[in-house]
Amino acid sequence: MRIAISTGGGDAPGLNAVIRAVVLSAHTRGWQTYGIRRGYGGLLGDDGVMSLTPDKVRGITHLGGTILGTTNRGNPFRWVVRAADGTESELDRSDDLVAAFHASGFEALISIGGDGSLKIAYDLHRKGLPVVGIPKTIDNDVSGTLATFGFDTAVSTATEAIDKLHSTTESHERVMVVELMGRDAGWIALHSGIAASADVILLPEIPFDIAKVCAKIVAREQAGRHFSIVVVGEGARPLDGQALVLERRAAGTVDRLGGIGSLVARGIAERTGKETRSLVLGHLQRGGSPTTFDRLLALRFGAAAVRAVADRAFGVMIGFNPPTLARVPLQDVIGRPKRVPLDSDTVLTARALGISLGD
Ligand code: F6P
Repeated sequence: MRIAISTGGGDAPGLNAVIRAVVLSAHTRGWQTYGIRRGYGGLLGDDGVMSLTPDKVRGITHLGGTILGTTNRGNPFRWVVRAADGTESELDRSDDLVAAFHASGFEALISIGGDGSLKIAYDLHRKGLPVVGIPKTIDNDVSGTLATFGFDTAVSTATEAIDKLHSTTESHERVMVVELMGRDAGWIALHSGIAASADVILLPEIPFDIAKVCAKIVAREQAGRHFSIVVVGEGARPLDGQALVLERRAAGTVDRLGGIGSLVARGIAERTGKETRSLVLGHLQRGGSPTTFDRLLALRFGAAAVRAVADRAFGVMIGFNPPTLARVPLQDVIGRPKRVPLDSDTVLTARALGISLGD
Protein backbone atom coordinates (compact mmCIF):
# COMPACT_ATOMS: atom_id res chain seq x y z
CA MET A 1 0.00 0.00 0.00
CA ARG A 2 1.37 3.43 -0.97
CA ILE A 3 -0.28 6.42 0.65
CA ALA A 4 0.29 10.11 0.00
CA ILE A 5 0.05 12.96 2.47
CA SER A 6 -0.27 16.68 1.81
CA THR A 7 -0.30 19.82 3.95
CA GLY A 8 -2.14 22.81 2.46
CA GLY A 9 -3.06 26.37 3.47
CA GLY A 10 -1.50 28.28 6.37
CA ASP A 11 0.75 26.20 8.61
CA ALA A 12 -0.18 25.34 12.20
CA PRO A 13 1.86 23.86 15.06
CA GLY A 14 1.30 20.10 15.06
CA LEU A 15 1.58 19.46 11.31
CA ASN A 16 4.85 17.58 11.73
CA ALA A 17 3.35 15.50 14.54
CA VAL A 18 0.52 14.39 12.20
CA ILE A 19 3.05 13.52 9.49
CA ARG A 20 5.08 11.45 11.93
CA ALA A 21 2.00 9.60 13.21
CA VAL A 22 0.85 8.80 9.66
CA VAL A 23 4.28 7.57 8.59
CA LEU A 24 4.83 5.38 11.65
CA SER A 25 1.27 3.98 11.70
CA ALA A 26 1.56 3.16 8.00
CA HIS A 27 5.01 1.63 8.50
CA THR A 28 3.63 -0.60 11.28
CA ARG A 29 1.20 -2.01 8.70
CA GLY A 30 3.96 -2.48 6.15
CA TRP A 31 2.79 0.46 4.02
CA GLN A 32 4.85 3.23 2.45
CA THR A 33 4.10 6.94 2.81
CA TYR A 34 4.99 9.72 0.38
CA GLY A 35 4.81 13.43 1.16
CA ILE A 36 3.58 15.76 -1.58
CA ARG A 37 5.65 18.93 -1.45
CA ARG A 38 3.99 22.37 -1.10
CA GLY A 39 0.31 21.45 -0.93
CA TYR A 40 -0.40 19.62 -4.18
CA GLY A 41 2.44 21.31 -6.06
CA GLY A 42 4.59 18.17 -5.81
CA LEU A 43 2.17 16.28 -8.07
CA LEU A 44 1.91 19.15 -10.53
CA GLY A 45 5.54 19.43 -11.48
CA ASP A 46 6.59 21.63 -8.60
CA ASP A 47 9.29 20.10 -6.36
CA GLY A 48 8.05 16.50 -6.45
CA VAL A 49 7.16 13.96 -3.84
CA MET A 50 9.34 12.73 -0.95
CA SER A 51 9.46 9.18 0.34
CA LEU A 52 8.75 9.38 4.07
CA THR A 53 10.48 6.55 5.88
CA PRO A 54 10.51 6.37 9.70
CA ASP A 55 14.01 7.85 9.57
CA LYS A 56 12.74 11.00 7.86
CA VAL A 57 10.23 11.76 10.62
CA ARG A 58 12.51 11.11 13.59
CA GLY A 59 12.49 13.95 16.14
CA ILE A 60 9.90 16.18 14.44
CA THR A 61 6.88 15.89 16.77
CA HIS A 62 7.85 19.03 18.67
CA LEU A 63 8.76 21.14 15.63
CA GLY A 64 6.47 23.87 14.29
CA GLY A 65 5.85 24.30 10.53
CA THR A 66 5.72 21.39 8.09
CA ILE A 67 8.60 19.42 6.62
CA LEU A 68 6.57 19.18 3.39
CA GLY A 69 6.09 22.92 2.91
CA THR A 70 2.70 24.47 2.26
CA THR A 71 1.04 27.22 0.26
CA ASN A 72 -2.12 29.31 0.24
CA ARG A 73 -2.05 29.35 -3.54
CA GLY A 74 -2.11 25.64 -4.32
CA ASN A 75 -5.71 24.99 -5.34
CA PRO A 76 -5.47 22.51 -8.28
CA PHE A 77 -8.94 23.60 -9.45
CA ARG A 78 -7.73 27.21 -9.69
CA TRP A 79 -4.03 26.79 -10.35
CA VAL A 80 -2.33 30.15 -10.72
CA VAL A 81 -0.09 30.40 -13.77
CA ARG A 82 2.33 33.31 -14.01
CA ALA A 83 3.33 34.51 -17.49
CA ALA A 84 6.76 35.92 -18.35
CA ASP A 85 5.37 39.47 -18.14
CA GLY A 86 4.18 38.84 -14.56
CA THR A 87 0.46 38.57 -15.33
CA GLU A 88 -1.39 35.74 -13.66
CA SER A 89 -4.23 33.53 -14.89
CA GLU A 90 -6.04 30.49 -13.52
CA LEU A 91 -6.18 26.96 -14.87
CA ASP A 92 -8.13 23.92 -13.64
CA ARG A 93 -5.39 21.31 -13.17
CA SER A 94 -7.42 18.86 -11.10
CA ASP A 95 -7.41 16.24 -13.87
CA ASP A 96 -3.60 16.47 -14.08
CA LEU A 97 -3.47 15.96 -10.34
CA VAL A 98 -5.73 12.91 -10.40
CA ALA A 99 -3.69 11.42 -13.26
CA ALA A 100 -0.38 12.08 -11.44
CA PHE A 101 -1.79 10.53 -8.25
CA HIS A 102 -2.72 7.31 -10.04
CA ALA A 103 0.49 7.25 -12.08
CA SER A 104 2.44 7.35 -8.80
CA GLY A 105 0.61 4.23 -7.66
CA PHE A 106 -0.97 5.90 -4.63
CA GLU A 107 -3.98 4.20 -3.08
CA ALA A 108 -5.02 6.84 -0.57
CA LEU A 109 -4.50 10.54 0.12
CA ILE A 110 -4.39 11.99 3.62
CA SER A 111 -5.03 15.70 3.28
CA ILE A 112 -4.28 17.93 6.27
CA GLY A 113 -5.89 21.33 6.03
CA GLY A 114 -8.33 24.00 7.12
CA ASP A 115 -11.68 24.76 5.50
CA GLY A 116 -10.14 25.71 2.12
CA SER A 117 -7.93 22.64 1.86
CA LEU A 118 -10.71 20.32 3.07
CA LYS A 119 -12.98 21.71 0.35
CA ILE A 120 -10.29 20.87 -2.21
CA ALA A 121 -9.98 17.40 -0.63
CA TYR A 122 -13.74 16.92 -0.98
CA ASP A 123 -13.71 18.03 -4.62
CA LEU A 124 -10.84 15.62 -5.33
CA HIS A 125 -12.77 12.85 -3.60
CA ARG A 126 -15.69 13.59 -5.92
CA LYS A 127 -13.29 13.09 -8.82
CA GLY A 128 -12.55 9.62 -7.50
CA LEU A 129 -9.56 10.12 -5.20
CA PRO A 130 -9.67 8.04 -2.00
CA VAL A 131 -9.27 10.87 0.53
CA VAL A 132 -9.17 11.15 4.32
CA GLY A 133 -9.03 14.71 5.76
CA ILE A 134 -7.49 15.95 9.00
CA PRO A 135 -8.60 19.34 10.39
CA LYS A 136 -5.80 21.85 10.87
CA THR A 137 -5.90 25.54 11.67
CA ILE A 138 -5.00 27.85 14.51
CA ASP A 139 -8.40 29.52 13.91
CA ASN A 140 -10.40 26.49 15.20
CA ASP A 141 -13.15 27.30 12.69
CA VAL A 142 -13.68 23.83 11.18
CA SER A 143 -17.04 22.12 11.80
CA GLY A 144 -17.32 18.48 12.82
CA THR A 145 -14.53 18.66 15.35
CA LEU A 146 -14.41 20.17 18.82
CA ALA A 147 -10.88 21.36 18.11
CA THR A 148 -8.37 21.62 15.31
CA PHE A 149 -4.72 21.08 16.15
CA GLY A 150 -2.71 24.32 16.30
CA PHE A 151 -5.45 26.22 18.12
CA ASP A 152 -4.28 25.39 21.63
CA THR A 153 -0.73 26.47 20.79
CA ALA A 154 -1.92 29.76 19.26
CA VAL A 155 -4.05 30.46 22.34
CA SER A 156 -1.07 29.74 24.63
CA THR A 157 1.15 32.08 22.63
CA ALA A 158 -1.47 34.84 22.66
CA THR A 159 -2.14 34.38 26.38
CA GLU A 160 1.55 34.66 27.20
CA ALA A 161 1.85 37.79 25.04
CA ILE A 162 -1.12 39.48 26.73
CA ASP A 163 0.30 38.52 30.17
CA LYS A 164 3.52 40.32 29.22
CA LEU A 165 1.65 43.41 28.05
CA HIS A 166 -0.12 43.71 31.40
CA SER A 167 2.85 44.91 33.43
CA THR A 168 4.05 47.55 30.95
CA THR A 169 0.50 48.77 30.26
CA GLU A 170 -0.19 49.13 33.98
CA SER A 171 3.14 50.87 34.69
CA HIS A 172 2.44 53.50 32.02
CA GLU A 173 -1.28 53.76 32.74
CA ARG A 174 -2.09 53.22 29.07
CA VAL A 175 -4.64 51.34 27.06
CA MET A 176 -3.17 48.51 25.00
CA VAL A 177 -5.06 47.04 22.05
CA VAL A 178 -3.89 43.60 20.85
CA GLU A 179 -5.06 42.33 17.46
CA LEU A 180 -5.14 38.54 17.17
CA MET A 181 -5.61 36.13 14.26
CA GLY A 182 -8.64 33.93 13.66
CA ARG A 183 -10.20 35.38 10.50
CA ASP A 184 -14.00 35.48 10.88
CA ALA A 185 -13.99 33.39 14.05
CA GLY A 186 -13.19 34.76 17.50
CA TRP A 187 -11.94 31.58 19.18
CA ILE A 188 -8.34 32.71 19.70
CA ALA A 189 -9.36 36.18 20.91
CA LEU A 190 -12.02 34.85 23.28
CA HIS A 191 -9.99 32.05 24.85
CA SER A 192 -6.72 33.96 25.27
CA GLY A 193 -8.53 37.17 26.27
CA ILE A 194 -10.34 35.43 29.13
CA ALA A 195 -7.27 33.45 30.22
CA ALA A 196 -5.09 36.58 30.27
CA SER A 197 -7.69 38.77 32.04
CA ALA A 198 -8.39 41.22 29.24
CA ASP A 199 -10.85 44.00 30.08
CA VAL A 200 -12.47 44.12 26.64
CA ILE A 201 -12.66 41.35 24.00
CA LEU A 202 -14.01 42.13 20.53
CA LEU A 203 -15.05 39.15 18.41
CA PRO A 204 -16.08 38.92 14.76
CA GLU A 205 -19.29 37.27 15.97
CA ILE A 206 -20.38 40.33 18.02
CA PRO A 207 -20.30 43.69 16.17
CA PHE A 208 -18.98 46.24 18.66
CA ASP A 209 -20.00 49.71 19.70
CA ILE A 210 -16.89 51.84 20.33
CA ALA A 211 -18.88 53.92 22.86
CA LYS A 212 -19.44 50.77 24.95
CA VAL A 213 -15.76 49.88 24.73
CA CYS A 214 -14.84 53.36 25.98
CA ALA A 215 -17.46 53.21 28.74
CA LYS A 216 -15.69 50.14 30.14
CA ILE A 217 -12.32 51.91 30.06
CA VAL A 218 -13.73 55.04 31.71
CA ALA A 219 -15.45 52.94 34.40
CA ARG A 220 -12.11 51.28 35.19
CA GLU A 221 -10.46 54.73 35.34
CA GLN A 222 -13.09 55.88 37.84
CA ALA A 223 -12.52 52.75 39.91
CA GLY A 224 -8.81 53.60 40.12
CA ARG A 225 -7.69 51.12 37.45
CA HIS A 226 -5.75 53.45 35.17
CA PHE A 227 -4.92 50.92 32.46
CA SER A 228 -6.90 48.57 30.23
CA ILE A 229 -6.18 45.68 27.91
CA VAL A 230 -8.36 45.34 24.81
CA VAL A 231 -8.16 42.13 22.73
CA VAL A 232 -9.50 42.33 19.17
CA GLY A 233 -10.03 39.43 16.78
CA GLU A 234 -8.77 40.47 13.32
CA GLY A 235 -12.24 39.91 11.80
CA ALA A 236 -14.06 42.08 14.36
CA ARG A 237 -16.16 44.93 12.98
CA PRO A 238 -17.99 47.94 14.37
CA LEU A 239 -21.79 47.95 14.48
CA ASP A 240 -21.94 50.17 11.43
CA GLY A 241 -18.98 48.79 9.50
CA GLN A 242 -17.23 45.87 7.84
CA ALA A 243 -14.20 43.74 8.73
CA LEU A 244 -11.02 45.45 7.49
CA VAL A 245 -9.23 43.88 4.54
CA LEU A 246 -5.52 44.59 4.49
CA GLU A 247 -4.84 42.97 1.14
CA ARG A 248 -7.14 41.72 -1.62
CA ARG A 249 -5.97 38.38 -2.92
CA ALA A 250 -6.48 36.40 -6.09
CA ALA A 251 -9.87 34.82 -6.75
CA GLY A 252 -10.17 31.43 -5.09
CA THR A 253 -8.03 32.45 -2.10
CA VAL A 254 -9.02 34.39 1.00
CA ASP A 255 -8.32 38.09 1.48
CA ARG A 256 -5.88 39.13 4.20
CA LEU A 257 -7.59 40.75 7.18
CA GLY A 258 -6.00 43.32 9.48
CA GLY A 259 -5.97 46.85 10.78
CA ILE A 260 -8.94 46.72 13.13
CA GLY A 261 -6.67 46.91 16.20
CA SER A 262 -5.24 50.29 15.24
CA LEU A 263 -8.69 51.57 14.28
CA VAL A 264 -10.05 50.61 17.71
CA ALA A 265 -7.01 52.18 19.40
CA ARG A 266 -7.59 55.45 17.53
CA GLY A 267 -11.27 55.44 18.54
CA ILE A 268 -10.38 54.88 22.20
CA ALA A 269 -7.70 57.59 22.26
CA GLU A 270 -10.02 60.14 20.63
CA ARG A 271 -12.96 59.41 22.92
CA THR A 272 -11.21 58.88 26.27
CA GLY A 273 -8.06 60.98 25.88
CA LYS A 274 -6.07 58.00 27.25
CA GLU A 275 -2.71 57.21 25.71
CA THR A 276 -3.51 54.12 23.64
CA ARG A 277 -1.12 51.80 21.80
CA SER A 278 -1.86 48.91 19.52
CA LEU A 279 0.01 45.83 18.49
CA VAL A 280 -0.60 43.03 15.98
CA LEU A 281 0.61 39.67 17.26
CA GLY A 282 0.53 38.21 13.73
CA HIS A 283 2.37 35.08 12.69
CA LEU A 284 3.91 34.53 16.12
CA GLN A 285 0.59 32.76 16.73
CA ARG A 286 1.36 30.24 13.98
CA GLY A 287 4.92 29.46 15.00
CA GLY A 288 6.76 27.55 17.68
CA SER A 289 6.53 24.17 19.24
CA PRO A 290 3.04 22.66 19.60
CA THR A 291 1.63 22.35 23.12
CA THR A 292 1.25 18.90 24.65
CA PHE A 293 -2.47 19.04 23.83
CA ASP A 294 -1.81 19.82 20.16
CA ARG A 295 0.93 17.20 19.86
CA LEU A 296 -1.31 14.50 21.24
CA LEU A 297 -4.30 15.60 19.15
CA ALA A 298 -2.15 15.70 16.01
CA LEU A 299 -0.64 12.27 16.70
CA ARG A 300 -4.12 10.83 17.36
CA PHE A 301 -5.46 12.41 14.15
CA GLY A 302 -2.61 10.89 12.13
CA ALA A 303 -3.06 7.40 13.58
CA ALA A 304 -6.86 7.60 13.16
CA ALA A 305 -6.49 8.66 9.51
CA VAL A 306 -4.39 5.57 8.78
CA ARG A 307 -7.01 3.38 10.49
CA ALA A 308 -9.65 5.00 8.24
CA VAL A 309 -7.53 4.18 5.17
CA ALA A 310 -7.22 0.57 6.39
CA ASP A 311 -11.03 0.40 6.66
CA ARG A 312 -11.34 2.08 3.24
CA ALA A 313 -13.46 4.80 4.86
CA PHE A 314 -12.86 7.60 2.34
CA GLY A 315 -14.48 11.00 1.85
CA VAL A 316 -14.33 11.63 5.61
CA MET A 317 -12.53 13.96 7.98
CA ILE A 318 -11.23 12.79 11.34
CA GLY A 319 -13.01 14.85 14.01
CA PHE A 320 -12.21 15.27 17.70
CA ASN A 321 -15.37 14.16 19.45
CA PRO A 322 -14.21 13.43 23.02
CA PRO A 323 -13.56 10.86 24.25
CA THR A 324 -13.30 9.39 20.76
CA LEU A 325 -12.27 10.44 17.28
CA ALA A 326 -15.09 10.43 14.74
CA ARG A 327 -15.18 9.97 10.96
CA VAL A 328 -17.26 12.89 9.70
CA PRO A 329 -18.34 13.00 6.02
CA LEU A 330 -16.39 15.80 4.31
CA GLN A 331 -19.60 17.09 2.76
CA ASP A 332 -20.93 17.82 6.27
CA VAL A 333 -17.84 19.88 7.10
CA ILE A 334 -17.17 22.15 4.17
CA GLY A 335 -18.93 25.46 3.71
CA ARG A 336 -20.03 25.45 7.37
CA PRO A 337 -17.40 27.41 9.27
CA LYS A 338 -17.57 26.99 13.03
CA ARG A 339 -18.09 30.31 14.82
CA VAL A 340 -18.19 31.12 18.53
CA PRO A 341 -21.79 30.45 19.65
CA LEU A 342 -23.07 33.55 21.42
CA ASP A 343 -24.76 31.48 24.13
CA SER A 344 -21.68 29.32 24.78
CA ASP A 345 -20.43 28.80 28.28
CA THR A 346 -17.19 30.60 27.39
CA VAL A 347 -19.03 33.75 26.28
CA LEU A 348 -21.18 33.58 29.42
CA THR A 349 -18.03 33.23 31.50
CA ALA A 350 -16.51 36.36 29.92
CA ARG A 351 -19.65 38.34 30.68
CA ALA A 352 -19.84 36.96 34.23
CA LEU A 353 -16.26 38.10 34.84
CA GLY A 354 -17.20 41.64 33.83
CA ILE A 355 -15.30 41.55 30.55
CA SER A 356 -16.87 43.90 27.98
CA LEU A 357 -17.62 42.31 24.62
CA GLY A 358 -18.32 45.72 23.15
CA ASP A 359 -22.09 45.18 22.88
O1 F6P B 1 -6.03 30.70 8.83
C1 F6P B 1 -4.89 30.89 9.60
C2 F6P B 1 -4.44 32.33 9.54
O2 F6P B 1 -3.30 32.47 10.35
C3 F6P B 1 -5.52 33.35 9.90
O3 F6P B 1 -5.72 33.46 11.28
C4 F6P B 1 -4.96 34.58 9.24
O4 F6P B 1 -5.96 35.51 8.92
C5 F6P B 1 -4.34 34.04 7.99
O5 F6P B 1 -4.07 32.68 8.22
C6 F6P B 1 -3.08 34.74 7.59
O6 F6P B 1 -2.64 34.16 6.40
P1 F6P B 1 -1.26 34.56 5.69
O7 F6P B 1 -0.18 33.85 6.44
O8 F6P B 1 -1.43 34.04 4.32
O9 F6P B 1 -1.14 36.04 5.77
